[in-house]
Amino acid sequence: MSAKILDGNAIARTAREALKAAVEARLDRGERAPGLAVILVGNDPASEVYVRAKRRDCEEIGFHSIIQHLSDNISQSDLEERVEALNRDSSIDGILVQSPLPAHIDEDRIIDLIDPLKDVDGFHPYNIGRLALRRPSVRSCTPMGIMLLLEHTGVPIRGLDATVIGASNHVGRPMGLELLLAGCTVTTAHKFSRDTAECARRADILVSAVGKPGLVPGDWIKPGAIVIDVGMTRDERGKLRGDVVFDEAVEIASWITPVPGGVGPMTRVAMLQNTFAAAEHALDIPDRR
Ligand code: GUN
Repeated sequence: MSAKILDGNAIARTAREALKAAVEARLDRGERAPGLAVILVGNDPASEVYVRAKRRDCEEIGFHSIIQHLSDNISQSDLEERVEALNRDSSIDGILVQSPLPAHIDEDRIIDLIDPLKDVDGFHPYNIGRLALRRPSVRSCTPMGIMLLLEHTGVPIRGLDATVIGASNHVGRPMGLELLLAGCTVTTAHKFSRDTAECARRADILVSAVGKPGLVPGDWIKPGAIVIDVGMTRDERGKLRGDVVFDEAVEIASWITPVPGGVGPMTRVAMLQNTFAAAEHALDIPDRR
């Protein structure tokens, strides 16, 4: 058996084309372009690459975008003032503070300050809480992108066994909540789990979000499972590696994401979709409007 490939690049391209058409429709109605503000602190090379990609995406689909590239010795209070100014800026629908932030910055306090309606990463405790309570508003981008990939398979997922490996705030936890909302029986395996392999082997849907190349060998995969690899680790030769041993897994799974070109482009497009929804006031928070 050879798995079908979930081509995140192609699926994300189609989603960006739909967004571009929707932006044009807004402009035709006399409305302004959706606006995204990205705050980048310091000179982390990987972050600079990510932020450049976000700017390119915005240009392609017609969003207004601003990037504030700030010195890595900015103070907590100066950074907080920047976020508050963007909260008040009516041309900005989405605010993204690129992580990692320098060690002297309290990242949680910065995320807490972002207006939840402009939190297009979906990291704010309010938005995670909404997802936990089955009333999602702004959804975390990587899990949201993965749900689009699962939809693309055409497989009805309600009732399936899903295992998420990794329990991070940004991916593992909201991923489990998304799958639970979709009706899966969810297991989250993490660094204290006694038998992660066993958790993986019973999964119809296996999501690995650890960042450890080679973590998931073929014999952890249930025949016919859908395998989603969130890992993106650069090896010593500069090559991006996922958590899953792709050459083994592809022989056993029914669907699988490649690395690169699987989850990564879907995360980016989910953030654009969140920004568009914020501009359209389509995020259902009735108590705030
Ligand atoms: N750093 C790496 N990926 C991301 C992301 O999706 N959002 C933010 N804010 N920072 C990141």
